[in-house]
Amino acid sequence: MKKQLVALVMAGAMAFGLVGCGGSGSVASSEPAADAGSSADAEMSAAPSGSEGAGSAAASDGSGVQVGIVLPTKDEPRWIQDETRFGEILEQAGFTYQVLFSQGSSATEKANVETLVSNGVQVLILCPQDSAAAASTVDYAADNGATVISYDRLITGTDKLDYIVGFDSTSVGVAQGNYLIEQAGDTKGNPLYLYAGATTDENAFLFFEGAWQVLQPKIADGTFVIKNSSEAEALADTPELDRDQMSTILGQITTDWDFEVSKSKAEANLTAASAEDKGDVFILAPNDGTSRSIADVFAIDPDVTSYVITGQDAESASIQYIIDGKQSMTVLKDTRLLSQAAVDMATQILTDGQADTNAVYDNGAAEIPMYQMEVLSVTKDTMQEYIFDSEYYDAADFTGLE
Ligand code: GAL
Repeated sequence: MKKQLVALVMAGAMAFGLVGCGGSGSVASSEPAADAGSSADAEMSAAPSGSEGAGSAAASDGSGVQVGIVLPTKDEPRWIQDETRFGEILEQAGFTYQVLFSQGSSATEKANVETLVSNGVQVLILCPQDSAAAASTVDYAADNGATVISYDRLITGTDKLDYIVGFDSTSVGVAQGNYLIEQAGDTKGNPLYLYAGATTDENAFLFFEGAWQVLQPKIADGTFVIKNSSEAEALADTPELDRDQMSTILGQITTDWDFEVSKSKAEANLTAASAEDKGDVFILAPNDGTSRSIADVFAIDPDVTSYVITGQDAESASIQYIIDGKQSMTVLKDTRLLSQAAVDMATQILTDGQADTNAVYDNGAAEIPMYQMEVLSVTKDTMQEYIFDSEYYDAADFTGLE
């Protein structure tokens, strides 16, 4: 599967101003719809605590849900950020909507989509638990009249997917890899530990692909020495990995996007490594949750004298870790812009029948029109500008800032 950027179709691309002018006329309400109970059940069956539809709103008159949003889990702060942003924007846009969580289960995701379909959903914004498994769920929604948008995480293997809205995921990995390279400078023989996301998430492949693009020449020239993946080591001279090669490496270094898996994998890696494999180490961590788990393990190993570690998502806990010198960088994927772009897309679909895009992505079944956005690297140096000046977070909520 190959992503190709195409020429910007529309000057100015997405018209953010459209939000609020949607012609639906329905009134949003913070009260659940009379028929929304089953969705809460679907959600609660997998997540008994704290998941009874906070942030959800559906038609006050029970007439239907215009925009349905299904997010992967409440257990990662990343997706709570998205939920909060959606709530704010959809209330303002005047849509009837419902936000449901799949709690790490494709079956719950399917049940959530079935609920939304029975609630008359017109535009489904779906962030899949499993990129491939979601195809049949997309087909079901599409066959029942919904326009389906893949949100952030890619959905593969279906030509019934209408749109994708997301970031340039390969560039996330490039930013992470480049940061490690900058920090290594001209030194050679730096121990490198590689970690990746869940192999069920297509994005995890793109993140790794981007990182490998820039890291591989620096592995080949001896700047870095891989310490925790025999599979990556075996492919150290291969600049462009094919899908099978990437799968083999990811199979070894996956975190499953899970904090516990990340922690135990890092522990196992450090147990297997000799003192010479440690010292001043460099760690490719795919996102913030995994980064904090892995960093905590490296921080307490007496043979690790320093570590540089990447991240992604600008979770508030990781912003604090960066301030405290416990995480080195993160990649900001501004959830305000992402949720806004998704709602703009929904607005355009509901008013004009189609949405503006600026890229296409071949998901293995069809070329899917995509609205793609850029990411920003956040370090101690860029934090003020990208995080606080932009009001992504309030500096007052963090400690240790000068
Ligand atoms: C990815 C997403 C990342 C990260 C990860 C774990 O698909 O793009 O931002 O949050 O999932 O949930």
